Amino acid sequence: MKLLVLNGPNLNRLGKREPEVYGAETLADVENHLQKIASEHLVDISFYQSNTEGALIDKIHECEDNGFDGIIFNPGAYTHTSIAIRDAIASINVPVIEIHISNVHSREPFRHTSLIAPVCIGQLTGFGTGGYELALQAFLLRRKGVRL
Ligand code: DQA
Repeated sequence: MKLLVLNGPNLNRLGKREPEVYGAETLADVENHLQKIASEHLVDISFYQSNTEGALIDKIHECEDNGFDGIIFNPGAYTHTSIAIRDAIASINVPVIEIHISNVHSREPFRHTSLIAPVCIGQLTGFGTGGYELALQAFLLRRKGVRL
């Protein structure tokens, strides 16, 4: 199973950015942890972060072309604004799980809408950086045949 962990704008600043909302772990910490769990389960995992909408869209298209089995995606603020990213996900057959570190539903009203969620198989929000690991677990269940 080949998975991509995709992170959008400002997530390269994890650890420094509003730690009271997003915690003290850096993106490298999160990725190292996921790499360890993925290796234990023989999952081929890769990581990509960009602050640019077009670069994220190109990466989403590449997942389809390169035979990925799933994407764990934190689109950051593009969640609430990007029809283009929504359309990119709709254009591929690779399943996507949307994740947010914070609980977007308990925050400002402009974070309550996700343009991305309708084209994802599910959304995890509010479990801190543990949400990435939960999404990986969901893909492991899917590999075992659980219908997601
Ligand atoms: C976020 C929530 C978004 O609303 C915000 O713009 C982010 C991070 C999260 O992980 O909680 O950049 O996606």
